[in-house]
Amino acid sequence: MLTGSVSADATIPFDPTTPEQRENPFDVLALARREQPVFHAPALDLWVVTRHDDVLAVLKDHRTFSSTGALKSSSAALPAQVLDVLAEGCPEMPYIIELDPPLHDRIRGLVARAFTPRRIDALAPRIEAIASELLDELAPRGRADIVQAFAWPLPLRVLGELFGFPREDLEQIHHWGLDWLLLQQHRPPDEQLAHAAGLVELQRYCVAAVEDRRTTPTDDLLGAMVAANDGTDEPLTTVEIAGLPLDLMVAGHVTLTRAIGSALYRLFDEPELREHLLDPVLLPKAIEELLRLESPAQGLFRVTTREVELGGAVLPEGARVMAHFASANRDACVFADADDYRPLRDDLGAHLAFGKGIHFCIGAPLGRLELRIALPMLLRRLPGLRPGPRLPTREPVFFARGFTALQVEWDA
Ligand code: HEM
Repeated sequence: MLTGSVSADATIPFDPTTPEQRENPFDVLALARREQPVFHAPALDLWVVTRHDDVLAVLKDHRTFSSTGALKSSSAALPAQVLDVLAEGCPEMPYIIELDPPLHDRIRGLVARAFTPRRIDALAPRIEAIASELLDELAPRGRADIVQAFAWPLPLRVLGELFGFPREDLEQIHHWGLDWLLLQQHRPPDEQLAHAAGLVELQRYCVAAVEDRRTTPTDDLLGAMVAANDGTDEPLTTVEIAGLPLDLMVAGHVTLTRAIGSALYRLFDEPELREHLLDPVLLPKAIEELLRLESPAQGLFRVTTREVELGGAVLPEGARVMAHFASANRDACVFADADDYRPLRDDLGAHLAFGKGIHFCIGAPLGRLELRIALPMLLRRLPGLRPGPRLPTREPVFFARGFTALQVEWDA
């Protein structure tokens, strides 16, 4: 626990890339909420917003806190060699997460027309079947890295079926998606080059998939998007549509992998969580509370379009801002006993694990559905689930929380 205080012009010792803060980002964020709720983190060149009301203010004011240029992979600040590699792909490809209206609304509108509640509900039996297939293979083994064996392939295969991508392509898509994420943070130049090359491959793959559906219509989500687009007054281009499978495959996969891993890890210290996940009435609340506490997307980015005062700080125009969902989710001004697992809390609906405002997570219903199916099934099929001897490995992406390896054992 960090107990010290900092003066108004001091900087909070925030560095989510260190092993200590990968493990426990919460103490330094609590210090920030108390002492300097909006601060500049020089190493990441980010203004970090930590209190719930300030994070909401950022998410609700997309004119001041723009998403344009919020991702580093489209930033002119990348080295020239990396930009050269990116230029070979589709540098103009829009990612929904870094768009402002009106293009944001047109692209999001297209997803909303095709990614309907009926399509999501229809996935439930497929999620069950894929989870069951993975567990059939796992159950006799008695020990496994549950991230590699379950938390990673489940959401990937679900999204693959949703988009109609062949199963044999999924592992490659997953690695290209990680390249895109890793390009958002400081890496040595040779690694950045490799990540840029991965992103270019993913862009080409998605463009080819859209072109295929233009010539051969399909009834998967991408086919539905292409068809819905043809019926609009102002149709999107192929590259604009191709940004969507890319966005959804990455946003909908890594978040769920992390959510499953974090839920299991927490289970080992929170015995009542196991009971709650097996109780159909408490299950949805337990999942929301887990999302609040763990926040698989720890925070995401905006860029200021003007000088603005927020939380006692003055942010210059062009400042890169991190709206820290994980910190907001532990703000004691909103959540009583904010660090404790209390799924029956009244304030649960205020959590920001799926964001808020125009960029609110478009996959939240699918994310919740997958967690509601997967977590109880895991507990039933792997009785006596407990940590294995090998230490877990934390996720390297600094604005995310979860594991890349989590060994567990059970009674085979
Ligand atoms: C537990 C699982 C998930 C978590 C914690 C999560 C979290 C989030 C958050 C915090 C945002 C807001 C971003 C911002 O304001 O900048 C977001 C947006 C988004 N999410 Fe999720 N997500 C999850 C699952 C999914 C799934 C399953 C999909 C797709 C199938 C998905 C697709 C997206 C997309 C496309 C956006 C961007 C929306 C926009 O910019 O308008 N997410 N997600």
